[in-house]
Amino acid sequence: MDRQELETKAREILLTNLRRGIADWNGKYYSFVCPSLRGYPFQWFWDSCFHAIALIHLDHEQAKAELTTLMSGAQPNGFMPHMIFWEMDKQPEFLSRNIVGMTSPNFSATMQPPIIAYAVERVYQATGDQEFLDNALPVLTAFYRWLREARDPDGDGLIAVIQPEEAGTDCSPKYDDILGLEELSNKGFITALRKVYAAYEPMRGDDHRILAADYFHVEDVLVNTIYAMGMRSLARLLGDSPEAAEFNREADKTRDALVEKCWDPGAGAFYDLSGVDEFTVEVVTISSLMPLVLEDLPRPIVETLVEKWLTNPDHFWTPYPLPSVPASSPKFMPGNPHGFIWRGPSWINTNWFLSQGLRRHGYDDVADTIVARSLECIEKSGFREYYNPFTAEGLGARDFGWSTLILDL
Ligand code: GLC
Repeated sequence: MDRQELETKAREILLTNLRRGIADWNGKYYSFVCPSLRGYPFQWFWDSCFHAIALIHLDHEQAKAELTTLMSGAQPNGFMPHMIFWEMDKQPEFLSRNIVGMTSPNFSATMQPPIIAYAVERVYQATGDQEFLDNALPVLTAFYRWLREARDPDGDGLIAVIQPEEAGTDCSPKYDDILGLEELSNKGFITALRKVYAAYEPMRGDDHRILAADYFHVEDVLVNTIYAMGMRSLARLLGDSPEAAEFNREADKTRDALVEKCWDPGAGAFYDLSGVDEFTVEVVTISSLMPLVLEDLPRPIVETLVEKWLTNPDHFWTPYPLPSVPASSPKFMPGNPHGFIWRGPSWINTNWFLSQGLRRHGYDDVADTIVARSLECIEKSGFREYYNPFTAEGLGARDFGWSTLILDL
């Protein structure tokens, strides 16, 4: 597929999934791309950031509108929800199949990986729109401060998620033991998740209390890598100012904590920490590689991640890399997961993160191969939610928004 054909197809998807209107519950204008019309009809936080980045290559006004709409959901305390139900008439059907933690009927009480400052930075670089940036900065500053205040109770620079969906990698095997999964299926996952939701019921909305209660308290490597990445973008956007120094300091702190607390030299991988007592979750998944995204990761760690895991055919170097779980894992499920996602197939968003990271560390050839294989997946199977890492078979949702990130690769 040549560039033009790819752009045409991506545009078709983004335009088809485009939702515009005035919300009847808050009177605000919205204009955003939903991940997929069937299954994901609302605005999702990190999906929206990926859509905006893809839209930079197609339509600058829509790229700005996507993020402006997302930021219009920010709350007075700085919190930004993981899902906003702009079109409430679609909610009953969705909630009949899914569970969402809520304190408001119109948006979730949970977060998602905080990539937004990076997305704003990219859209600002592409458009040079100062007003867009000026409107964004207070929202971003409040959001990243909220993350620190609400989600880092031990002040170590690592923020914690309270549910697996907050990390964006919902059913990843790294959460199996924490959740006490009794059956390895989507049904088993939902059953275990419902127990967490029930425990949260009396404290929903009070994140300090929830984290102290210690039901699901994960300092997640993927989330914290993206947190550090976001704060670096924010610091650049803030120019020469005390706030920029604040966020650079915090990004350093997060990077140092990842290296000091999550890096396991024996395994040669990064592991999440679980609970107030910070037990190491010794399960390698795609998030174990994510710190490669950070440009200032120590070189020996970079080399170990790339050589031991990423480019090793026993682990992540499958014909269509990078699988969400290494092929060597007993829990690796490369085929159709029937909703039990993030347990094998390759996703375009993690390929987008990691190919950028690899380039930053001088591995252009490896990045080029990941990009070429991602493109092959799309050529063979269309813009799907994820792909079989051996065959490139398309799986999950069709016409899936963030797979258009290929334009940015
Ligand atoms: C799934 C994914 C999550 C994504 C959402 C919408 O829940 O795990 O990362 O944001 O779908 O696409």
